[in-house]
Amino acid sequence: MSTRIIRRLILNVHQSNQRCIFMTSRQQKHSPYRTRTAGDKGTKLAGSASMSQMAASKHENPTSIHQEMVERQVLYPAQFKGAGDVRIQQVNKINEGKMVEIIWKDGKRSKFHSIWLRHNCHCPCCKIDVSCQPTVDLTEIPLDELHITDIDLTEENVLKVVWKEGDKTHQGYLPSSYLKTYCYSDGEIERKSNAARMNFTTDTKIPEIDYKEVMATETGLYQWLRILGDRGLCMVKNVPTEEDHLLKVSRRVALPHHTIYGDTFAVKDQPKASNAAYRNIALNLHMDQPTYESPPGIQMLHCLRFDDRIVGGDSVFADIHHIVDVFRQEHPDEFKTLCRVPVTFETLGYEDAAGRELPVHLQIRRPSISLNNYGDVVAIAYHEQITGPLQVDENDVEPFYKAYQKLIQAVHAWPYKYRTRLQPGDMITFQNRRALHGRAAYVSNGGLRHLQGTYINIDEFRSMLIYLQNTVGDGSPIKRMGLLDMY
Ligand SMILES: [Fe+2]
Repeated sequence: MSTRIIRRLILNVHQSNQRCIFMTSRQQKHSPYRTRTAGDKGTKLAGSASMSQMAASKHENPTSIHQEMVERQVLYPAQFKGAGDVRIQQVNKINEGKMVEIIWKDGKRSKFHSIWLRHNCHCPCCKIDVSCQPTVDLTEIPLDELHITDIDLTEENVLKVVWKEGDKTHQGYLPSSYLKTYCYSDGEIERKSNAARMNFTTDTKIPEIDYKEVMATETGLYQWLRILGDRGLCMVKNVPTEEDHLLKVSRRVALPHHTIYGDTFAVKDQPKASNAAYRNIALNLHMDQPTYESPPGIQMLHCLRFDDRIVGGDSVFADIHHIVDVFRQEHPDEFKTLCRVPVTFETLGYEDAAGRELPVHLQIRRPSISLNNYGDVVAIAYHEQITGPLQVDENDVEPFYKAYQKLIQAVHAWPYKYRTRLQPGDMITFQNRRALHGRAAYVSNGGLRHLQGTYINIDEFRSMLIYLQNTVGDGSPIKRMGLLDMY
């Protein structure tokens, strides 16, 4: 972090502290964020507020809190595009101030705990400008003595809250768009989790987009990432066949995800290759680099040359999440074994075989299949050809091999495979953790098959997709992509 950024951060925190609304009751009377209380003359008892109170609220407080949050960059309205109607009909203090109930204009109801609201307070004291990071010190909050004494609404549906926390009082606020988006009551988390489920298809035509579209506009970029997010793979056509040109495309999303194979890698037949992919032999369907705790999220393979005289070498893809979805129904016991017993993945390079600067011994033991707390599959690791020595309880050895064998058979027998012979200028892009990829063996006959590859980190891909979904798209939730997000 540069000195300038640190200085700016310190300044922001300092400014925020100056505006902090920890105060005595005397100070509260003069605060611009003041909320009506039971002691105020001529006002109703605080603790419930409706639309009829909003005009008065605005009158009391001419500063738009909403605008202030936007200016401080702790609120990006686009972030909440998918929230729908964020107007609040009524807000009630319940459970003696331990919770708040919100009745929305669209009829939905949400409940929030006082500690949840306190932790997510958006006032200048509780969120750092620009970074949006919370500064609330949870260890300072006496959970048993925390309750809400007053609530109110502004005309812009900002919820103003007064918390009593032991002998202190805090006044702050939260925007309704934030509350609607992050509502967690009434089965909302389960609904969101269901909405994130992947859609599967038996359509084996690879979806396509033109290179110029991807490069020219944000809409084109969004179309590409949206297809990649929903279907797991997308062919970018007509990419100039220059080496490293794929980086110009990948940098639309993120910097390259570096691995032991570098920022980019050449997939062509080479002697003493560090990986079977760099020979001309067949490659069974697999994902790359499951030896990493966080395997690459997106893989891009740009076809620079594929001479006509080459026989074979077709590319093949299959959706491992779809395969496992069917496998779960057909082989429930084996499915459970693969969720429980960890497989080993290992990649070795002690000698200079790969021309690498540093030796390599990547090793990880993890379940082939990971579930979230609803039992949905959220991550799969699969690569039969770099499976290492099993390191599990001896009672699990035979059940593991029985289950693993069945999964490999299911992948081999999968009927909905995408197949293509890449053409120079094709760039196949796919979710490395979802769309398994493989290749038929080939005979070069003196010709050259040369693909250049790179990876994009899964989190940065997802970040860009969410951003574009909220700015260019309709703000609807994006699908899971096997990155172990427990949602
Ligand atoms: Fe691969």
